[in-house]
Amino acid sequence: MVKGYQMPDDFLWGSAVAAHQLEGAWNVDGKGVSIADVMLAGKSGVRREVTDTVLPDGNYPNHRGIDFYHTFPEDFKRMKELGLKAFRTSIAWTRIFPNGDEAEPNEAGLAFYDRMIDEMHKNGIEPVITLSHFEMPLHLVNAYGGFRNREVIDLFVKFADTVIRRYGDRVKYWMTFNEINNQTEWMNPHHLLQDSGLKDYRPGEAQELMYQASHYELVASALVTKHAHETAQKLGTDIQVGCMIAMNPVYPASSKPEDILEAQRAMQTRYYWGDVHANGVYPNWLKNFWQHKGFKIDITAADEKLLAENTVDYVGFSYYMSWTVSDTGDEWLEYNEAGNHGDNPFLKKSDWGWQIDPVGMRWAMNWMWDRWHKPLFIVENGFGAYDKLTDNHQIHDDYRIAYFQGHIQAMEQAAVLDGVPLIGYLTWSGIDLVSASTGEMLKRYGFIYVDLDDMGQGTGERYYKDSFKWYQRVIATNGATLDSLD
Ligand code: BG6
Repeated sequence: MVKGYQMPDDFLWGSAVAAHQLEGAWNVDGKGVSIADVMLAGKSGVRREVTDTVLPDGNYPNHRGIDFYHTFPEDFKRMKELGLKAFRTSIAWTRIFPNGDEAEPNEAGLAFYDRMIDEMHKNGIEPVITLSHFEMPLHLVNAYGGFRNREVIDLFVKFADTVIRRYGDRVKYWMTFNEINNQTEWMNPHHLLQDSGLKDYRPGEAQELMYQASHYELVASALVTKHAHETAQKLGTDIQVGCMIAMNPVYPASSKPEDILEAQRAMQTRYYWGDVHANGVYPNWLKNFWQHKGFKIDITAADEKLLAENTVDYVGFSYYMSWTVSDTGDEWLEYNEAGNHGDNPFLKKSDWGWQIDPVGMRWAMNWMWDRWHKPLFIVENGFGAYDKLTDNHQIHDDYRIAYFQGHIQAMEQAAVLDGVPLIGYLTWSGIDLVSASTGEMLKRYGFIYVDLDDMGQGTGERYYKDSFKWYQRVIATNGATLDSLD
């Protein structure tokens, strides 16, 4: 028996994906090359190699996705059957502005998202749209240096304005930059490329560049928020713009005060993006830290005013795992994920080493609400696992059901018992798709199984996992029934 708590009637139960991980059709209808299109497949523990251009013989899983570009009408029928009330996806920047700096948008790309959004509404599903989900046009990386360049702010805002004006009558919930704070791990080139389009830098400048690029993204996000509110007024609709934070609570490894102080700084470091998005100001510790490091970050008075006046409407976040840190003895408390992370002896891990921590969900929701005072929206939570397709096309994924039972219960406790305002809960990913970190298909997250392997081999057929029935019942009972299936 797993105790559930009933959520409000308008609560948005749903699932989430990103364009580049499932659409495929990477060069169809005028789409340009994005950074996801030059990432080869990797695997657990093996980072994805990034090529300068598309190599003829490379295994680029995002080129294929699950062919959602062509299958979405059928797939949305399945999601309707699942009972989804909301579905989050991104708009691929390169379908609208193939190189990122064209004068006019690509009408074929805009028409595709017209069809997709209309299809969601036809199935009673509310679209939730991410503007930038690891999909920057490659041309902006090579010709502009990504977000290290202030000019890219205007190019992004132009893209965002174009799609918000086009779909603002049908899409209420928008988010600017997916997991903008992943780049806390600036030692990992993968994150700098995915979040900020940073490539070809000297290792010694990575950290400063990350802070600079992040600032330009925060400015771009504030501008988009401002313009979106103006568009909403013109259209007479309600448009809500959120940020999107990767929430991994960082706990102290022990009750030793130095460990607790270190964990506090880890949280401050990982979540200052949220401070700026939601509170509109940079924290003092960070300004002092930049000075200590000799970083010269270009932040103008006009930027600061813009940030203060255009905070987000809600905080979207993903939640997968938690971490622990211990003291390093450094007076400046510099957070270094590689250096002082440790295992939590109380938690188990997934096959990819991600620590499973449902209680941390409740903890994190309380922490964010206390700090930012903005409604929250869980826009990703899920369990990547190897699934086994039986001879009669069944998938018995009780491990995934167990993961969701714990996390949904913790989410409901935070919302119902603790009173944290919450717009909705979207699982990652509803339907199997390509993993962002490894490029694998076999790291599966869906309730709907897609018969494709890491090389794109398979029938592409869709089959329902046991978790499909389970989540269907959770939604039907509005979160009150979390028990396992009989
Ligand atoms: C988040 C991303 O990092 O987690 C998604 O927003 C991603 O794009 C998801 O797919 C799960 O991570 P992964 O690496 O297992 O696909």
